[in-house]
Amino acid sequence: MNKKNLLFGLLLAAFTLGVVACGGGEKEETAAEAPAATEEAVTAVPAIWTAPEEAKAVTNPIAMSTESSEKGKALFTQYCVSCHGEKGLGDAPAGKAVNAANLQEKVPAQTDGEIHWKLLNGKGAMLKISTYGISDEDGWNLINYLRDLTKQG
Ligand code: HEC
Repeated sequence: MNKKNLLFGLLLAAFTLGVVACGGGEKEETAAEAPAATEEAVTAVPAIWTAPEEAKAVTNPIAMSTESSEKGKALFTQYCVSCHGEKGLGDAPAGKAVNAANLQEKVPAQTDGEIHWKLLNGKGAMLKISTYGISDEDGWNLINYLRDLTKQG
């Protein structure tokens, strides 16, 4: 009888320990998963890429000039042609692989503010320009070049 009780007690203790250990383990897992989930939320790519209205209304603080457009062209050649191609058609091999946008279609349809917002925020394979060390200001120079590149007619 006593032996049985002891055995039962031991089993109970082992069971309790097991539960505590497992419970603890679960808690650790949850803690480890939390940052990953948050990261996912931050990098989640929205299906539609729309700039906020107030961003669309922002005007280009850098007046169009040969100087500005040339600065933009140098940056475009260095950082953007690899995907968008020299004419911005999105037809470079790396661009085809990630479905890079055809800037000849997209740029004329948008305001400078809208494009600038997109350059600053990025989306998926289209990295935000700060990733390349391109400043906000040079973002505007890039846009002046994109205007020249996509001039219709
Ligand atoms: C790694 C390939 C890649 C590089 C490099 C790249 N882009 Fe893109 N770009 C994309 C992709 C992909 C999209 C389409 C994003 C989407 O709509 O899902 C895009 C979209 C855009 C758009 C927006 C078109 C729209 O839908 O309104 C602009 C503007 C643009 N890119 C400009 C640039 C500029 C300027 C650079 C250089 C600083 C650049 N991109 C570098 C892949 C790239």
